[in-house]
Amino acid sequence: MGTAVDAARKELIGILQTNNKKFIVVFVLGGPGSGKGTQCAKIVEHFGYTHLSAGDLLRAEINSGSENGTMIQSMIKEGKIVPSEVTVKLLQRAMNESGNDKFLIDGFPRNEENRAAFEAVTGIVPEFVLFFDCSEEEMERRLLNRNQGREDDNIETIRKRFRVYMESSLPVIEYYNLKGKVQKINAAQPVEEVFESVKGVFSKVAA
Ligand code: ADP
Ligand code: C5P
Ligand code: MG
Repeated sequence: MGTAVDAARKELIGILQTNNKKFIVVFVLGGPGSGKGTQCAKIVEHFGYTHLSAGDLLRAEINSGSENGTMIQSMIKEGKIVPSEVTVKLLQRAMNESGNDKFLIDGFPRNEENRAAFEAVTGIVPEFVLFFDCSEEEMERRLLNRNQGREDDNIETIRKRFRVYMESSLPVIEYYNLKGKVQKINAAQPVEEVFESVKGVFSKVAA
């Protein structure tokens, strides 16, 4: 009680809260291969957001030789969702280091645990959720053609990822849908056509 550690903790919480108050977050969701990364790159160019892909942050964590690396690698190989404790920390660190105040958080929250942990830890509620809607057939075709040397872009892991998406990620999208926060995009069109729809949303909602 009243120790220097307590004071430092309070100050840190204060800094985080002040920081977070001005953070604008858009969650970018949709199945594996629906085009989240592709469209986020274009949103960054046009609307000045910082793009944070949870999957990219997890892959960077593996490559950094972190003590969690082996665990993360095997979860990704199996298409499973890494515990929020790890992912939320990576997102928070990236947000605080970016110097920006507007973020596209891509591929997160992936399940209810992700969603609740992010909100509890950061106090941030998304402005809206951009949802890329695409058929499994089309997503499978895209993933099998992606060619980025990813260990999870093989048919066996892709099937597991689709299952996790249906069982764990769709309910999160439904959660935000009930709150009126979802902006649904038809993602089964050519890249430029999808981006036309995306631009429409950002001009309307985030103007
Ligand atoms: P996600 O981040 O949702 O997994 P990506 O943006 O990495 O998806 O896209 C998956 C693959 O599909 C990539 O090879 C990408 O070039 C391709 N792609 C993305 N959007 C489209 C589209 N609208 N039409 C056809 N291919 C696409
Ligand atoms: O979004 P992306 O396709 O890059 O994600 C690849 C993998 O990273 C997921 O299949 C999952 O194993 C892991 N991931 C996760 N939690 C997230 C996002 C991604 O565990 N929120
Ligand atoms: Mg991606």
